Amino acid sequence: MCGIVGYIGTKKASPILINGLIRLEYRGYDSAGISTIEQNGLSIMKDKGRVKNLYNLDGIDNLKGTIGIAHTRWATHGKPSKENSHPHMDNSKTFSVVHNGIIENYNELRNFLLDNGYTFYSQTDTEVIPNLVHYYYKKETGSNQAKFLNAFKKACNDLNGSFAIEIICKDCPDIMIVTRKDSPLVIGKGENENYISSDIPAILSFTRNFYLLNDLEIAVLSRDNIDFYDKDLNAIQKNAEIIGWNALSAEKDGYEDFMLKEIYEQPTAIRETIGAKLSENSKCEFSELNITRDYLLNLNKIYIVACGTAMHAGLAGKNVIEKLCKIPTEVDIASEFRYREPLVDEKTLCIFISQSGETADTIAALKLCKKKGAKTLAISNVIGSSITREADFSIYTHAGPEIAVASTKAYTSQVILITLLAIYFAEILDISNSEIKKLKKDILELPKKIEETLKLSEVVKNFSKEVYQEKDMFFLGRGIDETVAKEGSLKLKEISYIHAESYPAGELKHGPIALIENGITVISIMTDKKLVEKTVSNIQEVITRGAKTLVVTNQNIKEDMFDMTIKIPETNTFISPILSIIPLQLFSYYISKEKGLDVDKPRNLAKSVTVE
Ligand code: AGP
Repeated sequence: MCGIVGYIGTKKASPILINGLIRLEYRGYDSAGISTIEQNGLSIMKDKGRVKNLYNLDGIDNLKGTIGIAHTRWATHGKPSKENSHPHMDNSKTFSVVHNGIIENYNELRNFLLDNGYTFYSQTDTEVIPNLVHYYYKKETGSNQAKFLNAFKKACNDLNGSFAIEIICKDCPDIMIVTRKDSPLVIGKGENENYISSDIPAILSFTRNFYLLNDLEIAVLSRDNIDFYDKDLNAIQKNAEIIGWNALSAEKDGYEDFMLKEIYEQPTAIRETIGAKLSENSKCEFSELNITRDYLLNLNKIYIVACGTAMHAGLAGKNVIEKLCKIPTEVDIASEFRYREPLVDEKTLCIFISQSGETADTIAALKLCKKKGAKTLAISNVIGSSITREADFSIYTHAGPEIAVASTKAYTSQVILITLLAIYFAEILDISNSEIKKLKKDILELPKKIEETLKLSEVVKNFSKEVYQEKDMFFLGRGIDETVAKEGSLKLKEISYIHAESYPAGELKHGPIALIENGITVISIMTDKKLVEKTVSNIQEVITRGAKTLVVTNQNIKEDMFDMTIKIPETNTFISPILSIIPLQLFSYYISKEKGLDVDKPRNLAKSVTVE
């Protein structure tokens, strides 16, 4: 969703800002713009369409300002258009603002400002912000800088909703002010220059030192300094976080697309996520968690809450937690959970999975569980992300930055991390059996097996070429394989725009089989020995009705029944989703390529869904 970038330093700001926006493109957007402070005041260059269109705007090359803000907009209030694009100025052209999130009381504020003589030129909620700051600025006394800061603070106090805001003022060319609430924003510290971004990868090539703001904290950036304040403008101290990712990890590194690169990074992502937590002969270790046997014994249930792919990882988590630890575990979609009046209390452990750590519904669900007295545990890929700052405990996948909108390596890393968590819980509960021993061994062998699975790429590519023009596809599986069917189907929808449905194979007869007709593609996953025969007979039913079948399996089945069988390495059923999803990731990828689509930035989607 919307992305923001900011720069204050000694270099010309405009190319740095545009470059930063290009790196945030993957978040999804429909218009872009920048604003800098020039000799003659504030300049704004913006338009709907791609970031690179900014290079064609008249006068863009003449900008010289060394301070500026920038934005990619994903329309919420008002259609994508030049007027609605950010940055927005106040009527007197003193302030320029970019904003992510939603100002919920903007109508009320707009009416208040209209009554006070202000005019609005866009349909956005954002335009109230610079005008409200101006309203207070006029009333302040003291230095321009003090007036700016006080006015900004007063305006922020009036805002309801979620926001990450950057603001510059033509009267104060040496500072930029930022704040955030429930919306992502990071501050990068450089040498005589400072940066703002919606996320870390966009500015990784400039710095590895980052400051993170808590809700409603304010930062004032100058060229060589950053001052932090709480919402009442009391000065506060912050320490920079040094981020381990390097700039190359946010580049394509020779791959055609980020998605392909990220699919191939899975062996490393899994190795890194396992890290030192697991060895064959000692207990699984999560030193960052403080969970006791009594606490686990007293739990009434575990809730796993997430959205999209992260929720699918949660389904794999439920399977392993229930089977190993015998703790009832429910999985829910965050946007449903939060309005469901969920049965959560102090005896419930609530686990939230989010690659970005910024998904609005997941964060809201976490806050709800905290209110109800439950312990909250966040699983995220982004150190310091909002969800990890809200949760009682946080554990991290170490997948490195995931840029492609379609999640791949984050999913498999989430599955492995939650499996390790289940082992950790089981060992705290003194459950130690041959099943756990075997699982540990299988986990340690997994990265090699992922490498083997990736070698199937050409086979998958060839099948993709046969079916890329199809309109509908079905994904079937039983047990753990059904969770992979869900994820495979989501991947295909997202990046190939082919309608895909996933079903538990046994449910087919209860309705969906009516849709099976000659030539339709049915993909099935069969990795659970106990269920494979049952699934095979379900597939037989679709073959009889003329379906074209692709099977992903690690079992010895009669392959000649199917149009294509992809044989993946055998592994433990608990972690089989990590291998069986890989051919399906590749399948979606190659179909999307065959159709000539933008794999990394599919239409209508955003990497990080920061609004409800
Ligand atoms: C995955 O391919 C999707 N783009 C999407 O479902 C995603 O997993 C979901 O929006 C949750 O994101 P998060 O993990 O950052 O919270």
